[in-house]
Amino acid sequence: MITTLSEALQGNPYQGYAYSYPHKTAYRAFPSPIPLQQLWSAENREALFLYVHIPFCEMRCGFCNLFTMSNPKEDLVIAYLHALERQAGMVKAALGEAAFARLAVGGGTPSFLEEAELDKLFATLEKKMMTQPEAISFSFEVSPKTVTPSKLRYLRERGVDRISIGVQSFLEEESKALGRPQRNAEVHQALEWIRQTDFRTFNIDLIYGGATQTPQSWLLTLEKTLAYQPEEIYLYPLYVRPLTGLEKLGTDWDNFRLHLYRLGRDYLLSNGYEQVSMRMFRKKGVATAEDIAYCCQEDGMVGLGAGARSYTNAVHYATEYAVGRKGIKGIIGDFVERNPESYRYAEYGIQLNEAEQQRRYLIKSMLHSQGLSLDRFRQRFGLNPLDQYSQLHELLRLGLARLDAEERLSLTPAGLERSDPIGPWLYSESILALMHQYELQ
Ligand SMILES: C[S@@+](CC[C@H](N)C(=O)[O-])C[C@H]1O[C@@H](n2cnc3c(N)ncnc32)[C@H](O)[C@@H]1O
Ligand code: SF4
Repeated sequence: MITTLSEALQGNPYQGYAYSYPHKTAYRAFPSPIPLQQLWSAENREALFLYVHIPFCEMRCGFCNLFTMSNPKEDLVIAYLHALERQAGMVKAALGEAAFARLAVGGGTPSFLEEAELDKLFATLEKKMMTQPEAISFSFEVSPKTVTPSKLRYLRERGVDRISIGVQSFLEEESKALGRPQRNAEVHQALEWIRQTDFRTFNIDLIYGGATQTPQSWLLTLEKTLAYQPEEIYLYPLYVRPLTGLEKLGTDWDNFRLHLYRLGRDYLLSNGYEQVSMRMFRKKGVATAEDIAYCCQEDGMVGLGAGARSYTNAVHYATEYAVGRKGIKGIIGDFVERNPESYRYAEYGIQLNEAEQQRRYLIKSMLHSQGLSLDRFRQRFGLNPLDQYSQLHELLRLGLARLDAEERLSLTPAGLERSDPIGPWLYSESILALMHQYELQ
């Protein structure tokens, strides 16, 4: 376990992606199921975020550590969409009066669904969850192999205004070495179709640090990406877990990734993009849904689907029974066969006391390039974070954070590139202990 920041920084800069706090490995079964109605009744439900998880893909990429299965039987996909519909009915009834300001369908690869299946999904969103996809910010994930012009037109007409696609690399041999064989012609064709369909926000995901990549080939991928002028670009350092098939690429791998990160960052910064976080870059002058969500920092997220999480201010919970304990197929199987009544309860997750809510706010803010406004923190929690968290002084002392004239504390470029160790270093002792126990099991 990391105790000092210098230890964290001397070690591996890519320890783990702090996707959210508390981490899912800190979740446990609740002593007894908690009715969703009870969880949500005291929350502000005027501008919720609805996330729907589609855990299917046309192939399983060698590097991917997401909750998804490849080439499911059609029966399973249909059964899953029916289960989503049942879950949506129960969840909406428990929420009562509620409005959604943001909607995201992620995966896996939601564009794996055929149009008739998308019809079913949209009917659930509109008729069961009472969302208005055309009136709100609506993001949808696709992959090069699963998009067609007609699917894209369909999505646009149904209100999708942000499309996110994984490209990873524009070099065929690199994609192949990552365990994601794809033809460049197919990738370019997909990107052309997306551009022609005119979504408000177009996002491209890239991965750096693969075994066969070089600084030159990375720059080539970035150059080809910019030809499409996407509003957003995510640069992901390659993370490989033992079970995903690729082995660790040697001791210099960390330095190699850091070098590629800096190259990518500088290239995008000098070509009209600004940095939003370690991974996210955005075309200057464009306001994205992520940005809007950040401003509000609302923790009202409702998740639907086998791998989805939901967040109220005080409780985070996951739909699945036991995270990663069973195989993905087993968890999806359980999800589709569940007694619909059970969707009305949260069974697995974590309660956040006031201190953990503060810490979550702090971590989220610090990992965003806008940083933490001391004033807003004071207004929300009634105290100065600099009095509360000694780590912030250490970040300042080491030049990893700075405090500006408006009392905004943010990571410096040296801090941002160390986001992955800094995030977990800010976790509380009790959350770290829960995560540790989980790993030991
Ligand atoms: C849900 S996927 C993207 C959509 C779609 N399934 C596709 O692959 O085109 C989200 C992104 O996470 C990134 N990702 C997944 N596993 C990763 C890993 N092990 N290391 C780094 N990035 C990873 C990839 O860039 C991927 O595009
Ligand atoms: S990267 Fe995308 S397509 Fe590949 S397995 Fe992961 S979610 Fe599926």
